[in-house]
Amino acid sequence: MKKKIHQAQTLMDALPYIKYFNKKTIVIKYGGSAQSDPDLKEKFAQDIVLLYLVGIKPVIIHGGGKKINILLDKLEIKSEFIDGLRVTNKEIMEVVEMILGGNINKEITNLLNHHGAKAIGVTGKDASFIEARALDEDKYGLVGEITRIDHKVIEDLMEQNFIPVIAPIASGGTNHPGFNINADLAASKIAVALKAEKIIFLTDTLGILNANNELMSTLNKEEIIDLKEKKVINGGMIPKTNACIEALEGNVGSAHIIDGRVEHSILLEIFTKDGIGTKIKGK
Ligand SMILES: Nc1ncnc2c1ncn2[C@@H]1O[C@H](COP(=O)(O)OP(=O)(O)OP(=O)(O)O)[C@@H](O)[C@H]1O
Ligand SMILES: [Mg+2]
Repeated sequence: MKKKIHQAQTLMDALPYIKYFNKKTIVIKYGGSAQSDPDLKEKFAQDIVLLYLVGIKPVIIHGGGKKINILLDKLEIKSEFIDGLRVTNKEIMEVVEMILGGNINKEITNLLNHHGAKAIGVTGKDASFIEARALDEDKYGLVGEITRIDHKVIEDLMEQNFIPVIAPIASGGTNHPGFNINADLAASKIAVALKAEKIIFLTDTLGILNANNELMSTLNKEEIIDLKEKKVINGGMIPKTNACIEALEGNVGSAHIIDGRVEHSILLEIFTKDGIGTKIKGK
């Protein structure tokens, strides 16, 4: 009996959050680095389906860095990162598109559908809803900077009760191979365009760690700039923190970096008072 009362209490504790986020959009960036364990992938899908069934509108943007590296290695194609961004030539772009637009996008879509949602997987090339230009062609090749998002395409899907699952590839126009967009930066742009209430980045660390490897539960822009200057924030955390700041400056309600290796981390973030991971503070 005690256990049952406890279960009821857990649901009651979630009630204010369920009410608050009802009909609101939450953008979830599902990091490639958090997609390793099959059991965790199932739990991720269950969390998203739960959000969807209680009336929250989840939008998924996914990365896939690890899987892209595995295929590049198999094909013996060398790839390097500058400031956390993958320098992308035409050959690498093909692999990026295969893994992100094909393999991972359909895997996530399939998982969500299997757990009871109606998910549709797209890349920014579908209906050309994400357009981009080269960020700095000499330095990064086909890494793109988003110039336009046709948010109506995504909103239409959501209106029809579909969960959009978005691979961060942008259209570069006719006869163009397309642009590789860092998934964190694509997620923040999409969150702003959809006027999302919250953006959550699922990755493979507790959150943002300081120089002593301790979790920082909150950080503001100035503190992030300082940690970057000291190179405590480096690699893939650079675009992620930039994306958080961009989302908050674009009026997204809150931005969080959380540990995708923890079971049901999304639910812990959304439905508990303290949340988990690092919350980036806006003004
Ligand atoms: N200060 C920091 N705190 C925590 N992680 C950091 C920090 N600085 C750099 N990192 C690195 O950032 C990584 C997360 O970014 P990464 O791009 O590798 O993953 P992701 O964005 O989740 O996956 P993907 O790019 O495939 O979508 C961590 O694994 C860690 O090595
Ligand atoms: Mg990354």
